[in-house]
Amino acid sequence: MLGDKTPPTEVWAYNGLEPGPVLRLRQGTPFRAVVENRLDEPTTVHWHGMRLPNAMDGVPGLTQPTIQPGKTFDYAFTPPDAGTFWYHSHDNGLVQMGRGLAGALIVEEVEPPAVDRDLLWTIQDWRLEPDASIAPGFRNRMEAAMDGRVGNTVTINGRLPEAVRVRAGERVRLRLLNAAIARIMALRFDGHRPVIVALDGQPCDPHEPADGRILLGPAMRVDVILDMQGEPDRSYRVVDDFYDRLSYTLVRIDYETVKPLRLHPSGASLRLPPNPLPRPDLGTAVVHDVRIQGGMMSSMGSGGMMGGGMGGMGSGAAWAINGHSMTGDGSADMPPLFRIDRGRSCVVDFRNETAWWHPMHLHGHSFNVLERNGAPVPHDEWGDTVLVRPREHLRVAFVADNPGDWMLHCHVMEHQVGGLMTTIRVT
Ligand code: C2O
Ligand code: CU
Ligand code: CU
Repeated sequence: MLGDKTPPTEVWAYNGLEPGPVLRLRQGTPFRAVVENRLDEPTTVHWHGMRLPNAMDGVPGLTQPTIQPGKTFDYAFTPPDAGTFWYHSHDNGLVQMGRGLAGALIVEEVEPPAVDRDLLWTIQDWRLEPDASIAPGFRNRMEAAMDGRVGNTVTINGRLPEAVRVRAGERVRLRLLNAAIARIMALRFDGHRPVIVALDGQPCDPHEPADGRILLGPAMRVDVILDMQGEPDRSYRVVDDFYDRLSYTLVRIDYETVKPLRLHPSGASLRLPPNPLPRPDLGTAVVHDVRIQGGMMSSMGSGGMMGGGMGGMGSGAAWAINGHSMTGDGSADMPPLFRIDRGRSCVVDFRNETAWWHPMHLHGHSFNVLERNGAPVPHDEWGDTVLVRPREHLRVAFVADNPGDWMLHCHVMEHQVGGLMTTIRVT
């Protein structure tokens, strides 16, 4: 992972690859995967962002029995949406994902946009020891009540990135996947103007990111189209400056010496073909509050925990949703936060009462992001994971068209296992 001068890092892997093999599916074409568990502990695979049948969702105890060591499970589904998705362990996820069990899943458009190259960056964050082994201590209570386990090494496609070589004038579709367990990223492409064309696999109005920074919480994907408008032979930096004082160069973009492929950016449309997503009817939607609570600087977050009032808090919980904490890998006996009639439109009001950022993720559906702190979002935007800022009130809506019990949780893994998790029921 760190290059030839350092010993390799021992990871847990799918098919011996880190990250797991890139799965390329065709929109509307059935997919099947037989997962054989060769770990010493139970596991499942979750197909993050897929609108698939509940029984294929990979949540142990909720949608399937866990896969015991030596056993197999057959996953099969037909992807309705084209876009950039991913898969990862959903059992003991903090440790299993933290040790590498994740990979990208790309569903190809029937008619893909015209680009010269289609690149994927699966970005992961690791906390490594000097000998390049993964540092122990996945359950640090202090970190769990703060930003989570943010590491010291960021890799692209399983390697400490060297420069990416490009040719002047070419148009690249770059699929960014934040597969880290905790690290939030804000990417700036020096000298370039990336245009966001999809969020969490779902096409959006093509737009440049606010302040030129592409925000990417854990589990989120952003597809950008990059016209390589730099000069031959020059080098440009991609910088991640999300955390104060921890800005670093993620990777360099090196231009080849050859003359530009074209002198002006191609005029071809940047808009991706739409996916068959139902648009929620806000006039008839039911509205549910999802209050995000806990963490350091709250009454329940500081280790000693809550004096009272937090009814359903499991032991060791640092976080809660509407006063209840589902911890660990979830507890199937905990009642759903709410139930919705199948086909009904639903508005979810995320109210972040904490001092921390939370990438909130809903299984089995994609939602339309409506408002942040009462202001409509500037672009039509869909997703399965949305980054909720400290103290923010964020409103999303979706059609509850997929029957079953679905997880709703923060994708900072320590937050999830520390109580920022619940389920909703669609019947
Ligand atoms: Cu990608 Cu329940 O998670
Ligand atoms: Cu998911
Ligand atoms: Cu969180």
